[in-house]
Amino acid sequence: MSEAAPLARPVFGLRILERRLPQLMRRVEPTGIWVLLDRKVEPVLGRALERALAATDLPHRVIRFTASEKNKSLAQLEKLAGRFLRAGADRGGLILGVGGGITTDVAGFLAATLMRGCAWGAVPTTLLGMADAAIGGKTAVNLPEGKNLLGAFHQPRFVLADVASLRTLPDREWGCGLGEVLKSGMIASPALLRRIESTPPRAIRRAGAEALALAKAAAGVKVKIVAADPLEGGERKLLNLGHTFGHALETAAGPRKLAHGEAVGLGLLCAARMAVDTGRARPVYAAQVLALLQRCGLPSRYPGKLPSPAELTRLIGRDKKKAGKTVDVILPIRPGRCEILPGQQPRELAAVIAATLG
Ligand SMILES: NC(=O)c1ccc[n+]([C@@H]2O[C@H](COP(=O)([O-])OP(=O)(O)OC[C@H]3O[C@@H](n4cnc5c(N)ncnc54)[C@H](O)[C@@H]3O)[C@@H](O)[C@H]2O)c1
Ligand SMILES: [Zn+2]
Repeated sequence: MSEAAPLARPVFGLRILERRLPQLMRRVEPTGIWVLLDRKVEPVLGRALERALAATDLPHRVIRFTASEKNKSLAQLEKLAGRFLRAGADRGGLILGVGGGITTDVAGFLAATLMRGCAWGAVPTTLLGMADAAIGGKTAVNLPEGKNLLGAFHQPRFVLADVASLRTLPDREWGCGLGEVLKSGMIASPALLRRIESTPPRAIRRAGAEALALAKAAAGVKVKIVAADPLEGGERKLLNLGHTFGHALETAAGPRKLAHGEAVGLGLLCAARMAVDTGRARPVYAAQVLALLQRCGLPSRYPGKLPSPAELTRLIGRDKKKAGKTVDVILPIRPGRCEILPGQQPRELAAVIAATLG
């Protein structure tokens, strides 16, 4: 059933939760609503959420969740499934995930598997969630062997992004989301890049109209790509722009020094450099990418001493997306346009990182 469900177009706005959420939930015609709520977002939207639930006149229960990669686990999923069932969840119910990407990934996977699948909706509350994680129907938990290794494609019935809920988002989390927003612009939206260039840096990281426009445009890119390739056969690979380099840097530095979106930002820089060095992009484009990173307040240098080429080669070779011993990289060739370059040697990609960030 999950593959067949249509891709939900996200609903975006400022202070729209209380008005729009009841309609969206009722449209699913559920027997009741079971909410997985990220504890940290309770201060910013707990009351509006409670009023939205009450306005549906449907039975509902809120189950609180502490969002962490450690809790994005099978053990937690089992506990949560038990709590949802004891709270009366049934196959006709609606599961609502309210929080960042961790919470919506867990809520979505719970919905994909609980009683062989029930409907779910997503209310992303991080920029990353709004622009990326809550869109596309990929749901998962982590295994000790790696992140997101146990999951399912299960489209949410709706995605409601109220940018007002970003009011309490920590600065670091803004950076994380902006790395992916920039990535989306580079993949498919020159207009999004121009918008970043014309928005005052202060306004980029504020829960207002400017951030709304950026998040919405980035989500639009993801929706378009996922619609063309729902099960990740081809075009969806473009969404990995910056990630082959980024993952290696993220692992090398550790999450405290380099968060995922920040590492992706550095990865974008490396990819742009490689595109220039292989004659696919003009040098002015790499300079523009650097300026965009800086405008978003993202790091443009590696924090500390760059690992040795041998260590970087090892980290790139470990990337789970590798086919055989070589790696496919996505190269940005001009604003809004990328190319997939298959069959690259990890050693050569490590050299690109050293040349860009060394
Ligand atoms: N399914 C997909 O396609 C997809 C795509 C990208 C990322 N992801 C997943 O998403 C996760 C990362 O998402 P994330 O960055 O949103 O992480 P997250 O859910 O951990 O949220 C980041 C932090 O911000 C807090 N938070 C959330 N909303 C807040 C708010 N409004 N105010 C204050 N604090 C708030 C959270 O409690 C958490 O501490 C990863 O697990 C990643 O694997 C999934
Ligand atoms: Zn990413």
